[in-house]
Amino acid sequence: MGVCCSIQGRKRCQLKHAKSPKKTPEKNSEVQGSHGTNTQTVFPLTYVKDVEDLRQNPGYSNVCIFTYVETRLATEEFRPDHIVGEGGFGVVYKGLIDENVRPGFPSTAVAVKDLNPHGFQGDREWLAEVNYLGQFSHPNLAKLIGYCCEDDHRLLVYEYMSSGSLEKHLFRRSGCSLTWSKRMKIALGAAKGLAFLHGAERPVIYRDFKTSNILLDEDFNAKLSDFGLAKDGPMGDQTHVSTRVMGTHGYAAPEYVLTGHLTARSDVYGFGVVLLEMLIGRRVMDKPVIDKGLGRELNLVEWARPLLNHNKKLLKILDPKIEGQYSPRAAMKVAYLAYLCLSENPKGRPLMSQVVQYLKKFQTKDVSHEEAMLRKVACRHGVTRDKAPNKSPRTPMRKRNPTRSETQKDGCKQRNEPGKGRSRCEPSPRA
Ligand SMILES: Nc1ncnc2c1ncn2[C@@H]1O[C@H](COP(=O)(O)OP(=O)(O)O)[C@@H](O)[C@H]1O
Ligand SMILES: [Mg+2]
Repeated sequence: MGVCCSIQGRKRCQLKHAKSPKKTPEKNSEVQGSHGTNTQTVFPLTYVKDVEDLRQNPGYSNVCIFTYVETRLATEEFRPDHIVGEGGFGVVYKGLIDENVRPGFPSTAVAVKDLNPHGFQGDREWLAEVNYLGQFSHPNLAKLIGYCCEDDHRLLVYEYMSSGSLEKHLFRRSGCSLTWSKRMKIALGAAKGLAFLHGAERPVIYRDFKTSNILLDEDFNAKLSDFGLAKDGPMGDQTHVSTRVMGTHGYAAPEYVLTGHLTARSDVYGFGVVLLEMLIGRRVMDKPVIDKGLGRELNLVEWARPLLNHNKKLLKILDPKIEGQYSPRAAMKVAYLAYLCLSENPKGRPLMSQVVQYLKKFQTKDVSHEEAMLRKVACRHGVTRDKAPNKSPRTPMRKRNPTRSETQKDGCKQRNEPGKGRSRCEPSPRA
């Protein structure tokens, strides 16, 4: 994508502009309307300008202000073995806030993020997290329990997400435990989080959608965390906001990297990258692929995108760790969604509210769960396990190759889905 990181070793960084952003707003507003997901927001959104302002107007009613001593107590003096993650912002510790930390506080497992004072990110990103997470409340956004801005300390206290990040599960060295069903559940949850932000009265662009910022609770419900780069979206007849190009290599939308024009569809591209990573089990920043025909290196998106729209080739690139857990038909449809989200042309990408509706169709229970249910039923009826009906809605891939008729069926159904009635390369333009 020609993205270039200005500061070595930083995960999240400023990305280079190819040309300076236009100042005049274009026609056709891209501001999206509200949608039907479960939302609860405090409006109007009011942001504190700086830390001094926050100290004087600590007005987020659901967010606690902690002292530095309290954060130290909660994390047992920031014990190294409590570290659960580290990003561009600083180190994240697991902690507990209870009676001993603050009398009367119900015992709550937390994650405490401590801004590295020598790091790349400063007050601005810290404040963005307080401003956005302090005012939003949604089942697919991480809950900000509180913060500390005593003296030079900048800490954020979130609800603890016991299953950690999607990155950890998807790319762990010791084998990935994420089943197809879990991946679909996570994709839907994360999509709902983005759809909520885009559909808010004052739309918000998340700008740093990637696997390490998608956190999972014990039931693998996905929540977006890390709002350091979030930004107010275009309003009224604005089509985009012009901004310094910030984000993470591989996930930033090409037009945003080129022009600095930020729209909600930049997030949709990032979503497409994550969906691709979930489908093929490879990191977007993995080694480039050499295309002998073209005689040059292709990054993962360039290489994989055409294959997402090619049924036979697609089945060969899907993550072997989930083989047999999905029907080829479902895999093709989800891959097609990723294909649309990764459109070079932002208008070819679906809205996140459409992505949510689409992904709802691919929610299934885990095979292990289904087997357990079958076993229970079998026991109740006095049937041994071998005699229990061995039916699962997910037919193993090896047994059910994509046949022509299946492809035809898919073709018919696609009229109700993104890109309806059009060539797969030319998804429908959105309102
Ligand atoms: N609430 C949380 N619960 C559990 N782990 C967390 C939580 N918040 C962050 N982490 C872990 O810390 C990592 C970095 O957190 P993040 O908020 O993305 O920080 P940064 O702004 O530095 O990128 C995450 O990828 C995750 O592994
Ligand atoms: Mg992060």
